[in-house]
Amino acid sequence: MVGSLVVGALWAMLPAYVPNNAAVLAGGGRPIDGGRTWGGRRVLGDGKTWRGTAAGTLAGVALALLLNRVAPAVGGVLGFALPTFPLRVALTLAFGAMLGDIAASFLKRRTGRERGAAFPGVDQLDFVVGALGLTAVAAPGWFAATFPLPALLVVLVATPVLHVATNGIAYALGLKDEPW
Ligand code: CTP
Ligand code: MG
Repeated sequence: MVGSLVVGALWAMLPAYVPNNAAVLAGGGRPIDGGRTWGGRRVLGDGKTWRGTAAGTLAGVALALLLNRVAPAVGGVLGFALPTFPLRVALTLAFGAMLGDIAASFLKRRTGRERGAAFPGVDQLDFVVGALGLTAVAAPGWFAATFPLPALLVVLVATPVLHVATNGIAYALGLKDEPW
Protein backbone atom coordinates (compact mmCIF):
# COMPACT_ATOMS: atom_id res chain seq x y z
CA MET A 1 0.00 0.00 0.00
CA VAL A 2 2.62 2.50 1.10
CA GLY A 3 4.99 1.10 -1.52
CA SER A 4 2.43 1.50 -4.27
CA LEU A 5 1.78 5.08 -3.19
CA VAL A 6 5.44 5.98 -3.35
CA VAL A 7 6.14 4.13 -6.61
CA GLY A 8 3.01 5.63 -8.15
CA ALA A 9 3.99 9.16 -7.11
CA LEU A 10 7.54 8.82 -8.46
CA TRP A 11 6.15 7.30 -11.67
CA ALA A 12 3.81 10.28 -11.91
CA MET A 13 6.79 12.64 -11.60
CA LEU A 14 8.72 11.16 -14.53
CA PRO A 15 7.17 13.54 -17.12
CA ALA A 16 8.37 16.40 -14.89
CA TYR A 17 11.89 14.98 -14.47
CA VAL A 18 12.68 14.64 -18.15
CA PRO A 19 12.10 18.21 -19.47
CA ASN A 20 15.15 19.78 -17.79
CA ASN A 21 17.44 17.09 -19.11
CA ALA A 22 15.97 17.31 -22.61
CA ALA A 23 16.43 21.10 -22.50
CA VAL A 24 20.12 20.63 -21.68
CA LEU A 25 20.52 18.39 -24.74
CA ALA A 26 18.41 20.57 -27.07
CA GLY A 27 19.17 24.04 -25.67
CA GLY A 28 20.62 26.86 -27.71
CA GLY A 29 19.33 29.49 -30.06
CA ARG A 30 17.34 32.54 -29.12
CA PRO A 31 17.03 33.25 -25.40
CA ILE A 32 13.47 33.76 -24.17
CA ASP A 33 14.30 37.19 -22.78
CA GLY A 34 15.75 38.24 -26.16
CA GLY A 35 18.79 39.61 -24.37
CA ARG A 36 16.76 42.14 -22.40
CA THR A 37 17.90 43.30 -19.00
CA TRP A 38 16.10 44.51 -15.91
CA GLY A 39 17.89 46.50 -13.25
CA GLY A 40 21.15 46.04 -15.11
CA ARG A 41 20.88 42.26 -15.19
CA ARG A 42 19.44 39.86 -17.74
CA VAL A 43 15.75 39.10 -17.20
CA LEU A 44 16.39 35.34 -17.51
CA GLY A 45 19.77 34.87 -19.20
CA ASP A 46 21.10 32.88 -22.14
CA GLY A 47 20.43 29.58 -20.35
CA LYS A 48 16.65 29.80 -20.96
CA THR A 49 15.92 29.40 -24.67
CA TRP A 50 12.78 28.89 -26.73
CA ARG A 51 14.21 25.74 -28.25
CA GLY A 52 15.18 24.22 -24.90
CA THR A 53 11.78 25.02 -23.41
CA ALA A 54 9.86 23.59 -26.37
CA ALA A 55 12.03 20.47 -26.55
CA GLY A 56 11.79 19.92 -22.81
CA THR A 57 8.01 20.24 -22.82
CA LEU A 58 7.64 17.93 -25.82
CA ALA A 59 9.95 15.35 -24.24
CA GLY A 60 7.92 15.35 -21.03
CA VAL A 61 4.62 14.98 -22.89
CA ALA A 62 6.04 12.23 -25.11
CA LEU A 63 7.26 10.34 -22.05
CA ALA A 64 3.85 10.66 -20.37
CA LEU A 65 2.13 9.19 -23.44
CA LEU A 66 4.68 6.38 -23.56
CA LEU A 67 4.18 5.67 -19.85
CA ASN A 68 0.42 5.50 -20.45
CA ARG A 69 1.02 2.69 -22.94
CA VAL A 70 3.28 0.64 -20.67
CA ALA A 71 1.47 1.34 -17.37
CA PRO A 72 -0.86 -1.69 -17.58
CA ALA A 73 2.00 -4.12 -18.19
CA VAL A 74 4.32 -2.61 -15.57
CA GLY A 75 1.44 -2.34 -13.11
CA GLY A 76 0.64 -5.98 -13.75
CA VAL A 77 4.17 -7.01 -12.83
CA LEU A 78 4.20 -4.77 -9.74
CA GLY A 79 0.76 -5.93 -8.64
CA PHE A 80 -0.85 -2.51 -8.41
CA ALA A 81 -2.23 0.07 -10.82
CA LEU A 82 0.09 2.88 -11.86
CA PRO A 83 -1.26 6.37 -12.52
CA THR A 84 -1.87 7.37 -16.12
CA PHE A 85 -1.67 10.87 -17.58
CA PRO A 86 -4.56 12.67 -19.24
CA LEU A 87 -3.13 14.95 -21.96
CA ARG A 88 -3.84 18.02 -19.84
CA VAL A 89 -1.77 16.55 -17.00
CA ALA A 90 1.05 15.50 -19.34
CA LEU A 91 1.22 19.12 -20.48
CA THR A 92 1.09 20.70 -17.03
CA LEU A 93 3.71 18.35 -15.58
CA ALA A 94 6.13 18.95 -18.46
CA PHE A 95 5.52 22.64 -19.08
CA GLY A 96 5.20 23.33 -15.34
CA ALA A 97 8.67 21.86 -14.81
CA MET A 98 10.06 24.21 -17.45
CA LEU A 99 8.18 27.17 -15.96
CA GLY A 100 9.56 26.45 -12.50
CA ASP A 101 13.08 26.33 -13.90
CA ILE A 102 12.52 29.60 -15.76
CA ALA A 103 11.10 31.25 -12.63
CA ALA A 104 14.21 30.13 -10.74
CA SER A 105 16.48 31.75 -13.33
CA PHE A 106 14.45 34.94 -12.96
CA LEU A 107 15.07 34.80 -9.19
CA LYS A 108 18.75 34.00 -9.71
CA ARG A 109 19.27 37.05 -11.90
CA ARG A 110 17.36 39.28 -9.45
CA THR A 111 19.62 38.07 -6.63
CA GLY A 112 22.79 38.77 -8.61
CA ARG A 113 23.61 35.19 -9.59
CA GLU A 114 25.19 34.86 -13.03
CA ARG A 115 24.12 32.21 -15.50
CA GLY A 116 25.13 28.82 -14.20
CA ALA A 117 25.57 29.94 -10.59
CA ALA A 118 24.23 27.51 -8.01
CA PHE A 119 21.18 28.38 -5.95
CA PRO A 120 21.01 25.50 -3.48
CA GLY A 121 17.49 24.31 -2.77
CA VAL A 122 15.97 26.33 -5.58
CA ASP A 123 17.92 24.44 -8.27
CA GLN A 124 16.68 21.12 -6.91
CA LEU A 125 13.04 21.97 -6.34
CA ASP A 126 12.10 24.69 -8.85
CA PHE A 127 10.78 22.25 -11.44
CA VAL A 128 8.91 20.16 -8.84
CA VAL A 129 7.10 23.19 -7.52
CA GLY A 130 6.32 24.35 -11.07
CA ALA A 131 5.09 20.95 -12.26
CA LEU A 132 3.05 20.13 -9.16
CA GLY A 133 1.73 23.68 -8.77
CA LEU A 134 0.49 23.95 -12.34
CA THR A 135 -0.98 20.43 -12.23
CA ALA A 136 -2.72 21.06 -8.91
CA VAL A 137 -4.41 24.11 -10.40
CA ALA A 138 -5.24 22.61 -13.79
CA ALA A 139 -6.24 19.09 -12.67
CA PRO A 140 -7.04 19.18 -8.94
CA GLY A 141 -8.87 15.84 -8.90
CA TRP A 142 -6.05 13.95 -10.60
CA PHE A 143 -3.51 15.72 -8.41
CA ALA A 144 -5.27 14.82 -5.14
CA ALA A 145 -5.68 11.18 -6.18
CA THR A 146 -2.07 10.80 -7.32
CA PHE A 147 -0.27 12.82 -4.67
CA PRO A 148 -1.82 12.30 -1.24
CA LEU A 149 0.26 14.06 1.43
CA PRO A 150 2.63 11.15 2.25
CA ALA A 151 3.38 10.67 -1.45
CA LEU A 152 3.93 14.39 -1.86
CA LEU A 153 6.45 14.37 0.98
CA VAL A 154 8.33 11.45 -0.56
CA VAL A 155 8.51 13.30 -3.88
CA LEU A 156 9.82 16.45 -2.19
CA VAL A 157 12.57 14.49 -0.46
CA ALA A 158 13.48 12.06 -3.25
CA THR A 159 13.50 14.54 -6.11
CA PRO A 160 16.47 16.65 -4.97
CA VAL A 161 18.46 13.43 -4.51
CA LEU A 162 17.56 12.22 -8.01
CA HIS A 163 18.23 15.66 -9.43
CA VAL A 164 21.70 15.94 -7.89
CA ALA A 165 22.51 12.45 -9.17
CA THR A 166 21.34 12.99 -12.75
CA ASN A 167 23.01 16.41 -13.00
CA GLY A 168 26.23 14.93 -11.66
CA ILE A 169 26.07 12.29 -14.37
CA ALA A 170 25.30 14.90 -17.07
CA TYR A 171 28.30 16.93 -15.85
CA ALA A 172 30.59 13.91 -15.83
CA LEU A 173 29.51 13.11 -19.38
CA GLY A 174 30.29 16.68 -20.42
CA LEU A 175 26.65 17.47 -21.26
CA LYS A 176 26.33 20.15 -18.62
CA ASP A 177 28.72 22.93 -17.66
CA GLU A 178 28.11 22.66 -13.92
CA PRO A 179 27.16 19.72 -11.72
CA TRP A 180 23.91 21.44 -10.50
N1 CTP B 1 18.11 25.16 -21.36
C1 CTP B 1 17.40 25.84 -22.35
N2 CTP B 1 16.12 26.28 -22.10
C2 CTP B 1 15.55 26.09 -20.89
C3 CTP B 1 16.28 25.41 -19.87
C4 CTP B 1 17.57 24.97 -20.14
O1 CTP B 1 17.89 26.03 -23.46
N3 CTP B 1 14.29 26.52 -20.66
C5 CTP B 1 19.48 24.67 -21.69
C6 CTP B 1 20.51 25.82 -21.78
O2 CTP B 1 21.44 25.47 -22.78
C7 CTP B 1 21.14 25.80 -20.39
C8 CTP B 1 21.17 24.32 -20.07
O3 CTP B 1 19.98 23.80 -20.67
O4 CTP B 1 22.42 26.38 -20.37
C9 CTP B 1 21.23 24.02 -18.59
O5 CTP B 1 20.05 24.45 -17.95
P1 CTP B 1 20.11 25.26 -16.58
O6 CTP B 1 21.10 24.67 -15.65
O7 CTP B 1 18.71 25.39 -16.12
O8 CTP B 1 20.62 26.72 -17.08
P2 CTP B 1 21.93 27.56 -16.76
O9 CTP B 1 22.68 27.73 -18.02
O10 CTP B 1 22.63 26.98 -15.60
O11 CTP B 1 21.35 28.98 -16.39
P3 CTP B 1 20.63 29.46 -15.03
O12 CTP B 1 21.70 30.03 -14.18
O13 CTP B 1 19.68 30.48 -15.51
O14 CTP B 1 19.96 28.27 -14.43
MG1 MG C 1 22.21 25.69 -14.18
